[in-house]
Amino acid sequence: MRRIVHYQLGEPARVLRVEDGPSTLLGPDQVRVRLSYAPIHPGDLLGIMGSPAFGTPPTIASGGRVPGFEGAGVVSEVGAKVDPALGLKQGLRVAFFPASGAWSDEAVVPASSVVPLPDSIPDEVGAQMMNNTVTALIVIRAAHDSLPPDARTGVVTLLTGAGSAVGRLIGKVLTERAVKVVRLVRSEVSAARLTSVLPGSPVFATEVAGWKDRVRAAAEGAKIHVAIDSVGGRLLGDVADLLAERTGTVINFGSLGGETSDIRLFPPRSLTLKGVVLGSWMQ
Ligand SMILES: NC(=O)c1ccc[n+]([C@@H]2O[C@H](COP(=O)([O-])OP(=O)(O)OC[C@H]3O[C@@H](n4cnc5c(N)ncnc54)[C@H](OP(=O)(O)O)[C@@H]3O)[C@@H](O)[C@H]2O)c1
Repeated sequence: MRRIVHYQLGEPARVLRVEDGPSTLLGPDQVRVRLSYAPIHPGDLLGIMGSPAFGTPPTIASGGRVPGFEGAGVVSEVGAKVDPALGLKQGLRVAFFPASGAWSDEAVVPASSVVPLPDSIPDEVGAQMMNNTVTALIVIRAAHDSLPPDARTGVVTLLTGAGSAVGRLIGKVLTERAVKVVRLVRSEVSAARLTSVLPGSPVFATEVAGWKDRVRAAAEGAKIHVAIDSVGGRLLGDVADLLAERTGTVINFGSLGGETSDIRLFPPRSLTLKGVVLGSWMQ
């Protein structure tokens, strides 16, 4: 079995290697999946680095740690106690999440983490279908819950990292729900790319001077009560500056910028910072 493995925490390019390794024993409630695709999520890289943005650093056993929590492929073996009603059998195309050790030719996965893939969903889509989608939905729920009860119509939302996979999902779902989304990306190249793929709501590049004035103009006088942020760093402070005093909330679910975040404006403006993570939702 070929796998991507690391034996210490550190820069992924330095600590990751491709190796042959032993097959994992199959437990009674597990299925073995022969993988075709496994995504590289930013969170996977944070875990390999042991970044505080990952939470508690992952444990590395003496035989190394195989990253990755999600993937798609074909079932090659079914555990003895897997409920037949799940319909999991050899040869079935599936996606799975969560399961550890997905960056491998094969993974041993709890049967409860597996869903069959219909023919209409190719493996490369199925492999990134669950983590990103559920994250987008719990972030939107947190953003909704943060709104003042009397400000839940005509909502204007700021969205950073809007070109990322999760950012695109959030932007699209909110737009379909009649929320005005002002999308932020870092560069003009990213802005042009995002506008061509998902036209409609405004996209501004934060590397271009005056972008905050453009956001204010796009809001057309409406108060911005909520911002959805996955970049952090200095941008968090800039986003806070655009929010309504006292009622403004930043929903943060990532730190793509890799910088320490600027929260200096939060106390004097009575703003709220709310962290959201998929793991808590699953538990
Ligand atoms: N809290 C949770 O449970 C949870 C779950 C899933 C994902 N996440 C987080 O969600 C975020 C997006 O994940 P993803 O899988 O959607 O990412 P992705 O598809 O890999 O996209 C990466 C994006 O990051 C942007 N980016 C990179 N560095 C940046 C910077 N310094 N400033 C602004 N943008 C930057 C890139 O923009 P360009 O187009 O300009 O290159 C690109 O659009 C990540 O922070 C991830 O950790 C959190």
